[in-house]
Amino acid sequence: MLIGTGGTIKADLLIEGEKIVATGQEMDVPDAEIIDASGKFVMPGGIDPHTHFDLPMFDTVCSDDHYTGLKAAAFGGTTTVIDFVPQDHPTLQESIDAWHEKADLKATVDFSFHMNITRLDENIISEIPRLIDEGIASVKVFTAYNDRLRLQDGEILKVMRLCSKHSILTMMHAENGDVIEVLTADALAAGHTEPIWHAYTRPAWGAVESVLRGIALAEQANASLYIVHVNTAGGLDQIRYGQARGLPVMGETCPQYLFFTEEYLERPDGAKWICSPPLRKEEDNEALWDGLVDGGLQTIGTDHCPFFFDGTRAIEYEGEWIAIPGKELGSEDFTKIPNGLPGVGDRLPIMWTYGVGKGRLTPNQFVALTSTNPAKIFGLYPQKGALLPGSDADIVIWDPHRPLKYGLAHAHHRTDYNLYEGWELVGYPEKVFLRGQIIVDDEQWFGRAGMGRYIMRQPTGGVI
Ligand code: URP
Ligand code: ZN
Ligand code: ZN
Repeated sequence: MLIGTGGTIKADLLIEGEKIVATGQEMDVPDAEIIDASGKFVMPGGIDPHTHFDLPMFDTVCSDDHYTGLKAAAFGGTTTVIDFVPQDHPTLQESIDAWHEKADLKATVDFSFHMNITRLDENIISEIPRLIDEGIASVKVFTAYNDRLRLQDGEILKVMRLCSKHSILTMMHAENGDVIEVLTADALAAGHTEPIWHAYTRPAWGAVESVLRGIALAEQANASLYIVHVNTAGGLDQIRYGQARGLPVMGETCPQYLFFTEEYLERPDGAKWICSPPLRKEEDNEALWDGLVDGGLQTIGTDHCPFFFDGTRAIEYEGEWIAIPGKELGSEDFTKIPNGLPGVGDRLPIMWTYGVGKGRLTPNQFVALTSTNPAKIFGLYPQKGALLPGSDADIVIWDPHRPLKYGLAHAHHRTDYNLYEGWELVGYPEKVFLRGQIIVDDEQWFGRAGMGRYIMRQPTGGVI
């Protein structure tokens, strides 16, 4: 069964070189190599619209780079990732060039970039329209991380106006930076050091308020807006409020906000679940599922940004022992725990079993949320996110019946833990193709560093 053709159909798919050239019933093509996918689903490779690789944070760096992380993506059925370029250099161009240096020779699946705008001046303003020439059709702004990444509201308004004029999509990390600053200082002064204080100091109402603030600013800027990692029921309510008034506002959530709550931070290994925004409550999980089902939310990303739980103990990766400082950096102080979770390889298998398998999502919704919608929103469609003549032959043959006890042994992330350790799965990628070449065949890896291509994205701006 093919998904990603506009519906689900029983058909054959003809590939020539890197492209899909035809779909049809019982095609008879002399000399064609035949791959039998009877009893399986055939779908476009996943597109993860929200990843971080090789990202410096606090006194360390996230533990997957553009080789290890993109390889893990491939094993989980994802063939394109969109990674965020931090604004770490005086100019945007230098920041982008530096990120290409990290990624280009390592990438194992296709990739593209979003640009973080975390400092604004006249020079940066003059550079933003030129992002399109770099194939970057989206920027991310932050209302949190005071003195580090946050822009003031007036600056965000200026970015949105400019982006709207040049068909660049504004993405927003929505939390209230001032509230976080005050609560964090209070918590530390009172001697609170445990991981749960990460959640207590980043309250849900701050996230709700700043989603609405973002929508209000976007309305005034006549801009489209994409809220990343939506994590609260209230934030989704604000998105729905905007959508009901015809505003072009979209939302992404991530598996961690569907399956886990802040209570996980109270466990002895609670640092494993530290991410920003933090995990919330069960009613938030449930509301976000509803948003995926009824279209309030458009995409499932991962915000993949892994760190070792214990970076003093080496793990074996491709025959080498490696240890990278991780969550233990904050064992005495929750504000020093690097923020972020592994997930790029987990996304499709987990969402299939617990979304499609549990009857919450149809196979078509699954593909829309994890591939087609990200492609449409971020200017990759129909090159990616579709099984149409002319699309790249990024294809996953999905075995919907394969049972698997999941966890670190199956996930290929370069870290020492997996959030879904021991979870029972039914359904898993069997074969993964990148532009017509097989890169994963069951547990075998045929990819190589540098085979992933940088994808120039088209200007965007609308909503889907
Ligand atoms: O904890 C997270 N999510 N780290 C990555 C940075 C971000 O805000 O997406
Ligand atoms: Zn963020
Ligand atoms: Zn992120």
